[in-house]
Amino acid sequence: MTNWQTFLTDIENASSHGDIDAIEHALFGRKEGAMTLAMQELKDLEGDTKKERAKELNQQKAKLTEALETRKVNLAMPSQETLTSEDAIDVTLDLPPEERGHLHIVPEFIAHLEEVFGRMGFDTHFGPEIESEDMNFTQLNIPEEHPARDTQDTFWIRKKKQETRNKKQDRTVLRTHTSPVQIRYMRDNEPPFRAIFPGKTYRKDADATHSPMFHQFEGLMIDTDISVAHLKAVLINALKELIGRDLVFRFRPGYFPFVEPGLEMDMQWQGDESESREGKWLEMGGCGMVHPNVLRNGGIDPEKWQGFAFGFGIERPLMIKHQIPDLRTIFQGDLRFLRQF
Ligand code: PHE
Repeated sequence: MTNWQTFLTDIENASSHGDIDAIEHALFGRKEGAMTLAMQELKDLEGDTKKERAKELNQQKAKLTEALETRKVNLAMPSQETLTSEDAIDVTLDLPPEERGHLHIVPEFIAHLEEVFGRMGFDTHFGPEIESEDMNFTQLNIPEEHPARDTQDTFWIRKKKQETRNKKQDRTVLRTHTSPVQIRYMRDNEPPFRAIFPGKTYRKDADATHSPMFHQFEGLMIDTDISVAHLKAVLINALKELIGRDLVFRFRPGYFPFVEPGLEMDMQWQGDESESREGKWLEMGGCGMVHPNVLRNGGIDPEKWQGFAFGFGIERPLMIKHQIPDLRTIFQGDLRFLRQF
């Protein structure tokens, strides 16, 4: 009869993984393993003898397997005597930083917008990038033959001929500004309300401060007693919070058919390394009091409600905030550029 106890003692005395392998083989080897053979012999037994023998073997097998596993783990750990001070763990060691990605600066700015305007009670809403000519222009008080339709350098989306025949109003465009979302929001909500509408916009422009695809954020605040003073307070506070406390702004009259009076807001370039732009004014966007026709188109009674709207570029303030000389680099996807922020 095999003395299983001897195996257990051998396992405990094993001093290397080689020893363990040899014992494992002696026990469980496919042809000659002591346990393998013992199990095979079961088939020659019968009845209760067979049952008892099987039970005993299974118990021994479990014991031996466990002893082997335990010894393997112990062998993998250095014993107290072999530990030197060099093996000690230095808990003060700085590990190399784990590489982590981050948002691109544009969506990051939009998230920041939501937070800053959110604190002032503004809701965030997104409209479609593909708009009808009607929403992009007509509903915003820009008449059919108004030159403003050309100045925006629109991307028109071609439709099948039969769909557009005699139906000029039905043409589709890549929205040239976020202002059509004003109409959508007014139609879907009851005043008073305040909301911002960030997103992509498109115009056929390309130079250091223009890109054919760019981002804007629109703002709209409608209540019974809103004035230009509210408009200025909201914009100045928000932009200081978003870009920098020390910024200097100016407002000047500007014409947009969907506001009356209309204003343009400029921000001063500061700390530009090239110094060529230092002190110059950069146009940030337009704003003003929502035109009564636009309120009416949005289903709002201009006798009772009034408010302001603004529409700002997102890349421009980013250029000032991060001292980016050419707006187009924001969209080139060069990681050497994007990793700086
Ligand atoms: N939509 C205008 C533009 O893109 C900006 C604007 C928005 C002006 C709202 C006034 C009010 O130039």
